[in-house]
Amino acid sequence: MRGKLVVGNWKMNGGLRQNDALLAELRVGWTAPPMRGLAVCVSYPYLWQAQAALSGSAIAWGAQNVSEHAGGAYTGEVSVAMVAEFGCRYAIVGHSERRAWYGESDGVVAAKATAALAAGLTPIVCVGETLAEREAGTTEAVVLRQLDAVAAKLGERIGAVVIAYEPVWAIGTGRTASPAEAQTVHRLLRKRLSRVDAAAADVLLLYGGSVKADNAKALFAGADIDGALVGGASLKADEFLAIAHA
Ligand code: PGA
Repeated sequence: MRGKLVVGNWKMNGGLRQNDALLAELRVGWTAPPMRGLAVCVSYPYLWQAQAALSGSAIAWGAQNVSEHAGGAYTGEVSVAMVAEFGCRYAIVGHSERRAWYGESDGVVAAKATAALAAGLTPIVCVGETLAEREAGTTEAVVLRQLDAVAAKLGERIGAVVIAYEPVWAIGTGRTASPAEAQTVHRLLRKRLSRVDAAAADVLLLYGGSVKADNAKALFAGADIDGALVGGASLKADEFLAIAHA
């Protein structure tokens, strides 16, 4: 049976003092029901802080990006080995903000997922269509193209990743895909994964895009929706915990 997973994506938010309070509240408030995972992905400078605050708890932590390169002359980049040294379990790769604003291609995203896996991290691979792509009726083609690029590189190791379906038009906009719209895309992704490898049919498929405490339950009711990647609502402990408990 697949478990459930809720991951917070803090994006470029946080500060030493706020993080201390938020991490402590999460640690106290997370009751860790069986088969349910909770994690936060923080900015690089705070990985040590997440590690210090969450070690020994049932909450995992991770990075929001990693370099596809192992090391060397890549000014400003952070390698998977560096991230792994801070006890990370997860690394988000291919978030739509990185694809849109930092020019990450499907190929780069696949290389990042490969590097993360090789370092023992679980990549959370983001896929999702823009509003223009949805309106043009190309949602399926876009998400399958993004998934296939990673699957082609990983082969049967695709079974070891987590996928997050995040329609770009739903991110930070307060507009979510309806539970039915989300489930339709998740079903499609699940079918494609099972064609790559039977075991990959059990990959956790998270939904992301304006997930809040008051819409989480309806989204999680989808048969192929295994949890959420949560941006804005992961910055408030009560709201984030309410989502995780939904
Ligand atoms: P949001 O962001 O929950 O603020 O819409 C989700 C994400 O970008 O991962």
